[in-house]
Amino acid sequence: MLTTRRQAIKTLAAATLGTSLAQFSTQAADTNSSVLVMPGATPAAPEPPPTGPYTMPPLPYGYGGLEPMIDAQTVELHYTKHHAAYVAKLNEAVAKVPSLAKKTNLEEMLKNLSAVPESIRTAVRNNGGGHYNHSLMWQTFSPHGGGFPPGDLTMPICNTFVSFEKFRDECVTAANGLFGSGWVWLVLDHAKKLSVMTTPNQDSPLSVGKYPLFGIDVWEHAYYLKYHNVRSDYISALWNVVDWVVVTKRYGLAMQA
Ligand SMILES: [Fe+2]
Repeated sequence: MLTTRRQAIKTLAAATLGTSLAQFSTQAADTNSSVLVMPGATPAAPEPPPTGPYTMPPLPYGYGGLEPMIDAQTVELHYTKHHAAYVAKLNEAVAKVPSLAKKTNLEEMLKNLSAVPESIRTAVRNNGGGHYNHSLMWQTFSPHGGGFPPGDLTMPICNTFVSFEKFRDECVTAANGLFGSGWVWLVLDHAKKLSVMTTPNQDSPLSVGKYPLFGIDVWEHAYYLKYHNVRSDYISALWNVVDWVVVTKRYGLAMQA
């Protein structure tokens, strides 16, 4: 009986040692560590996930700040999960290219995607676009939003779309006509002319020579918890939280550029 018990202990110890060594080997391979860690010793803390030049912008209001138009749970998930994932994946992508690892001018990269190394171009297009689009979106919402833009923007909107109501109608039509996921935008072109356009996925208007003033996220993650499949109800509610002062300032700066 004693022999059998000793054998069992030896077998268990050998198995544990083998497992520990295997884990150690994996850790060493993962971290490129050259420091030996004896089995049973406390292993070094794992390296933090890749960080990079891109960080989350602070949310200008609480998760519930846009209630009841946009519910707190949607804002929290949208910001902490979806937007944060774009930032993390963008940092992972640029970390693979030393010349880009410190670059922080995302706008310039999106304007000239063809200059981004092909190996990470799609990742920058999707995740860089996602980061840029969402960063813009959060700052153009406000708990005190809604109403009409200041005159500096109302005038050109009316000159372009006949009226502010018709501009909103055009946005709703574009949103309802967008198949799958994407964005509806109010943009300026090189001739400083306003228009409404859509982009698929997380593509930025910057990548097609347009400057985005305001964007409506029509991915289902932006509205499904509250509005389910009725995208048009989400758009109708959204107008009540648009910070037209911010959008108008953006328009003014773009017109001076
Ligand atoms: Fe989104």
